[in-house]
Amino acid sequence: MGARSGANQSYSHVESVQQAAHTSRSKGWLRGARVQCLCACVTIAFFLLTIVLYKVSQSLESDEAPSPNDLEKIAYRARVYSQLATEGIEEPAPQTVPLLLESTANREVVVSCYYNTPGNGESNQLLPSNVHPHLCTHINVAFARIVNKEIYLDNSQYETLRQIVTLKNLNPKLKILLSVGGAGGDKGFPEMVVNHAARKVFIRSIKAILKNYTLDGIDLDWEFPAMYQRSIEESGGRERQHFSQLLREIRMEYIREKHNYLLTVAVPAPETLVDISYDVDQLNMYVDYVNIMTYDFHYYTKYTPFTGLNSPLYPRPMEQFYLASLNINYTVHMYLNKGLDKSKIVVGIPTYGHTFMLVNPDNPSIGSPASGFGSLGQMGFVNYPDVCMYLRGSGDGAQVVFDNATRVPYMYKDREWVSYDTPQSVMDKANYIKEKGLRGAMIYSLNADDYEGVCQEGRWQEDSKFPLSQSVKNTLIYNSTRESRGRSRD
Ligand SMILES: *[C@@H]1O[C@H](CO)[C@@H](O)[C@H](O)[C@H]1NC(C)=O
Ligand SMILES: *[C@@H]1O[C@H](CO)[C@@H](O)[C@H](O)[C@H]1NC(C)=O
Ligand SMILES: *[C@@H]1O[C@H](CO)[C@@H](O)[C@H](O)[C@H]1NC(C)=O
Ligand SMILES: *[C@@H]1O[C@H](CO)[C@@H](O)[C@H](O)[C@H]1NC(C)=O
Repeated sequence: MGARSGANQSYSHVESVQQAAHTSRSKGWLRGARVQCLCACVTIAFFLLTIVLYKVSQSLESDEAPSPNDLEKIAYRARVYSQLATEGIEEPAPQTVPLLLESTANREVVVSCYYNTPGNGESNQLLPSNVHPHLCTHINVAFARIVNKEIYLDNSQYETLRQIVTLKNLNPKLKILLSVGGAGGDKGFPEMVVNHAARKVFIRSIKAILKNYTLDGIDLDWEFPAMYQRSIEESGGRERQHFSQLLREIRMEYIREKHNYLLTVAVPAPETLVDISYDVDQLNMYVDYVNIMTYDFHYYTKYTPFTGLNSPLYPRPMEQFYLASLNINYTVHMYLNKGLDKSKIVVGIPTYGHTFMLVNPDNPSIGSPASGFGSLGQMGFVNYPDVCMYLRGSGDGAQVVFDNATRVPYMYKDREWVSYDTPQSVMDKANYIKEKGLRGAMIYSLNADDYEGVCQEGRWQEDSKFPLSQSVKNTLIYNSTRESRGRSRD
């Protein structure tokens, strides 16, 4: 009971904010101001969380997991960043010249899949030869770094890239992009965007690598422009404009080369971050599409010691204010409202889940108190096959709950609590994408999907591999009729 009342306490903060909001509307502006203040606090708290989890998410995928020390650093920088958010740095967007871009006729559905190059010395990794050539329309090989303003890959990454490109022999329509950056991989971006000469060096290195490896384009994952105080000091706080400038110059270079190379950008979900880092109208003008990272909406940190869903499609009924923005539907509408064209919106779908350690096994609902990461996976991240093997091993011991409002499941057993996606939940997301007429889905990542096919017993072996990615692809591409099940609701 003790822990259960703990749960009530932690809810009560959020609830009292919401109640205050209700009463204040009828009781004048003074109260209103207080409520705004409270809202701001809630917003900032969740904003901090968001930054931390973006960083952690990607560092897990890269081979070096951050030590607790790194996390402290991330949290510190997040605090600095959230200060920027409250000060609302506004600078005019760079003057733009309308550009006639490459043929806009190419509006084919996109299924863009991130493939993380294998780290050294780890066993049981997804090798290039096991990547299915027809699973995705685009494969983003992740992640290259920037060293001395040039794209940098280590030798094993070059080799992997070369092998991935050979998949085009099996599927000539497959596009291969190189992804640059990733969370924790922002080093090199600030010095590179800072002036025209530096950007030119980078663009030259892009051209060389696109040609040498017969790639189809480049995907920029700078997480995130204008994010740190450092940027203010060293570049006059103009990283956002410089990034737009870079996109423009890359596009102009493609046009000059008369080559239909692709230019894509991975962008965050939280609105505060979007406002700091991007001129959405410029993204819309110069990129082929953006991969929106609509996941990591909830993750365990000591500031947010609650269970929560990794990638909900919709909000839960009781969620208000900032909490109500932490879902795919809100994020998509936010980008549409900021002027991003439907045909440029590619919605991120995770193949990994997040784990939590329940404080009280008798209180396993969404939002209940958590004391840390779950035991599955690593640092609160778990790959899909690890979840389904755990469920299989638990027999009737584990409970699976499908949360109707958000269209995602979670499971729990004793103190273990996991938010994850299934072929069903990703199909719901894909149907949403279809019904909204968006460009497609981004999958993060092929590595975290069930690439060995251990989840679906009794299916034809080839058919059982990559069940989540397959479900997305089948829904978006093969089933092109609109009467598929699980209609989105608005
Ligand atoms: C591309 O190939 C040329 C000639 O083989 C080589 O000098 C250059 O270093 C290569 N560039 C990259 C980025 O691999
Ligand atoms: C999706 O978002 C839009 C815009 O914010 C909103 O009008 C709509 O009600 C949302 N749909 C659901 C099911 O929450
Ligand atoms: C699930 O959500 C849909 C859409 O909001 C609703 O129509 C349906 O009644 C819900 N089902 C249950 C069992 O709550
Ligand atoms: C198309 O959707 C139906 C359900 O609406 C499903 O049973 C079928 O397997 C799907 N087809 C493909 C090729 O995915």
